[in-house]
Amino acid sequence: MNHFDHRDGILHCEDVPLTRIADEVGTPVYVYSTATFRRHAQVFREGLKPLGRIHLAYAIKANPNVAVLRLLAEEGYGADVVSGGEMARALAAGIPAADIVFSGVGKTRAELSRGLDEGIGQFNLELEEEGVVLARLAHAKGKRAPAVLRVNPDVDAGTHAKISTGRAENKFGVPIDQAAAMFARLAPLDGLDLRGVACHIGSQLADLSRLEEAYRRIGVLVAELRAAGHRITHVDLGGGLGVPYKAGDTLPSPADYGAMVARVTEGWDVELMFEPGRVIAGNAGVLLTEVIWVKPGVTNPYVIVDAAMNDLARPALYDAWHDFDAVAPSGERMTANIAGPVCESGDTFAMGRDIDAVVSGDLAVFRTAGAYGATMASTYNSRALVPEVLVDGDRFAVVADRIAAETILAAERVPDWLMPGRDPA
Ligand code: LLP
Repeated sequence: MNHFDHRDGILHCEDVPLTRIADEVGTPVYVYSTATFRRHAQVFREGLKPLGRIHLAYAIKANPNVAVLRLLAEEGYGADVVSGGEMARALAAGIPAADIVFSGVGKTRAELSRGLDEGIGQFNLELEEEGVVLARLAHAKGKRAPAVLRVNPDVDAGTHAKISTGRAENKFGVPIDQAAAMFARLAPLDGLDLRGVACHIGSQLADLSRLEEAYRRIGVLVAELRAAGHRITHVDLGGGLGVPYKAGDTLPSPADYGAMVARVTEGWDVELMFEPGRVIAGNAGVLLTEVIWVKPGVTNPYVIVDAAMNDLARPALYDAWHDFDAVAPSGERMTANIAGPVCESGDTFAMGRDIDAVVSGDLAVFRTAGAYGATMASTYNSRALVPEVLVDGDRFAVVADRIAAETILAAERVPDWLMPGRDPA
């Protein structure tokens, strides 16, 4: 459910017509709904009600805009971060350091050190050596780092290969059959409070049975660790719950997920931690764009829009589907390819799609663009960095500026030996 609906023939975000945002901010632009973010945050929490002690750490990579983080902090969410930059954002949004989980397969020593200085609530270790280094850094600072060991349960998540993380050949976590031995070597280290395990098997998961299998394996490991005398107080179950991208898609709900987790984790007696990203942000945003041309094609016309793969990379990277709807549909339909202005054939959002009929100058949106949209944007083809707008009822604010190509150019320089007029010798 989301708050992007047609009213009097014009697509609105909450009470704001998208035509107004296009007029005032220009296109392309990401538009987010505060009400949808809040609702998703609440529905996810509600779904986990059957569980005991939980900690919610929003995976900020999905949408790290500082205004979004602020509103999710108001909803009681901490953060899951994977870089020093994400840590800085979460702290800037006022998320307490103690509510931040530091994940990531390549945390640098400098990032680990900064995390310790900030008092980050939990470090999710990706390899044994990271635990040794973290313990040493913490010990030198007179601290004990709260940590869990991320385990790779070797389960196929059944999602796109590029967003699968829980198969043995993926780079994430430690092999589950070696986890107990590693845990035993790390647990005694001064400077480390090794208190549990973590797993995350992939993103846009549509089949709860895969997650269930991974969690069952984690449960077996927890029992094994306890039998070996370790104190296990925290288990981080990651994120990954999928969202509907196409009208008619049916996906497990947070309540289905919560019921499965309750069944599998019964008797674990730990604080369960969750790192939802897409399920919170996905349907809370659209990418608003203007049609530049409708260009005749061999089979279907190409609708060339002013958004491109640099603004929304998911179709080019994962062949992802994003619904495309006119802001002011005429009622007519057309079959078209939808593409951006970037000079690659991969800059294509859809082929042979049945869509609202559009002509140049019309506004349209790509839906379900609130997660892994703006955050993955680039300036390829020397395009501006796409701005972001947050709507709240009948008001809206630009929460990330459009960064002009000229501003990016101003950060580059020609070294003096290449200056015009210099002797090339
Ligand atoms: N926790 C960890 C350790 C993760 O690696 C991720 C996502 C999450 C939580 C959040 O997963 P979510 O609930 O959002 O599925 N760019 C891709 C998705 C990459 C996901 C990376 N990790 C896309 O656009 O589909």
